[in-house]
Amino acid sequence: MRTPVRIAITGAAGQIGYSLVFRIASGAMLGTDQPVILQLLDLPAAMKGLEGVAMELDDCAFPLLHSLEISDNAKTAFNACDYALLVGARPRSAGMERADLLSANANIFKEQGMALNSVAKPEIKILVVGNPANTNAMITQHYARDIPAEQIHAMMRLDHNRALNQIAKKLDTSVRAVRNVTIWGNHSANQYPDLFHAKAQNKSVAEQVSRDWIENTFIPTVQKRGAAVIEARGASSAASAANAAIDHMRDWVMGTPADTWVSMGVPSDGSYGIARGVVFGYPCYCHDGKYTIVPNLSIDDFSRARIEKSHQELLEEKDAVKSLLV
Ligand code: NAD
Ligand code: LMR
Repeated sequence: MRTPVRIAITGAAGQIGYSLVFRIASGAMLGTDQPVILQLLDLPAAMKGLEGVAMELDDCAFPLLHSLEISDNAKTAFNACDYALLVGARPRSAGMERADLLSANANIFKEQGMALNSVAKPEIKILVVGNPANTNAMITQHYARDIPAEQIHAMMRLDHNRALNQIAKKLDTSVRAVRNVTIWGNHSANQYPDLFHAKAQNKSVAEQVSRDWIENTFIPTVQKRGAAVIEARGASSAASAANAAIDHMRDWVMGTPADTWVSMGVPSDGSYGIARGVVFGYPCYCHDGKYTIVPNLSIDDFSRARIEKSHQELLEEKDAVKSLLV
C-alpha cells in the first residue's frame, strides 16, 4: 500500500459532496491501491449534516479511507493537502444562468485561494466545480499566487461526458467507442461542444450524422443539459457532476488513454487565439500527472465563431470580477 494522500473537499455536506466522498473513499478517483485522508469543509451551519456524512463514511468501513477530518475552517481543511475539489458554492435554480452566480460565489474562491496558498502542498492539484467554474478557477489562481496556475483547473468534464453520451445514443453504440469530442470555452450555455474531430469506432462522427443534427440537436442539447436537469429534478445535477469530477482528476493523475483527449478548463497559454490567463475549455492529453493542450487541430469558420463567442463571454465574466483581480 502507498502512503495516504490528503484530499480536501469543500461543500462536502451538499448534494455533489454526498455523491463524491463515498466514491473517492472507495478508490474510484485515485485507484484501489491508494489510501486517502479526507479533509471535508463546509459552512458552520452545515456542520451537523457534515457530521452525519462522516458517520456514514465510517460505517462504510472503506479499506482505503485512512482517516477523516471535518471542519468549517478553510486553512484546517486545506492543510498539507495533495488534492482539492472546490465544490462548495451556491447552485443556480430554474431561470438563472450560471453567470448569475458570479457575485454570490466569487468571494468564496478569493478566500479559499488564499487559504490554499498558505497551507496546501505546493504540488497540489485543484479542481474548481462551483459555478461559474471557469471564472472561479481564475480567481482561485489569482489568490493562490505561489501555486502554478496549471495546477488549478475548472470542470468541463460533465459537458464532455454529456456529449459522449449524446453521440453514443445517436450512433447506437457504447460511449467507450466514442472519443475526442471537445468542449471549448466556458461551462455555460455558450460553450462549444465540437464533434468535428471525434471518432466513433475509429470512424469520423461528423461523417455519420447529419449537419442538421449537429447544429440543431447535439450542440443545443449539450449546452442546455444543466438547465434541463434542473427543470426535471428541481435541483442541479449532482451525481453526474461528482462522477465528472472523479473522471477529471483520475485522468489528470493517471493519464488519458492513447490517442484520446478529454476536455479540461485550464489557463489559456494563447492556444487557438484565446487570451492568456482565461480559464478555457480545451482538448487535453494527460501524461505523468501533467496535461498538454492538443495542438494544431483544424478549426473551420463554423467552429471558430462558436469558440470566439465563448471566449468573449469569459472575457466579460473576467471584466465583471476585475475588482477582485487587482
Ligand atoms: P449544494 O447547495 O447542495 O451544496 C453546496 C454546499 O457548499 C453546501 O453544503 C454549502 O453549505 C457549501 N458551501 C457554501 N459556501 C461554502 C464555503 N464558503 N465553504 C465551504 N462550503 C460552502 O450545491 P451542489 O448541488 O452540491 O452544487 C455545488 C456547486 O457546484 C454549485 O455552484 C453548482 O452550480 C456547481 N456545479 C458545477 C458543475 C460543473 O459542471 N462545473 C456541475 C454541477 C454543479
Ligand atoms: C450543470 O451543468 O449541470 C451544472 O453546472 C449545474 C447548472 O447550473 O447547470
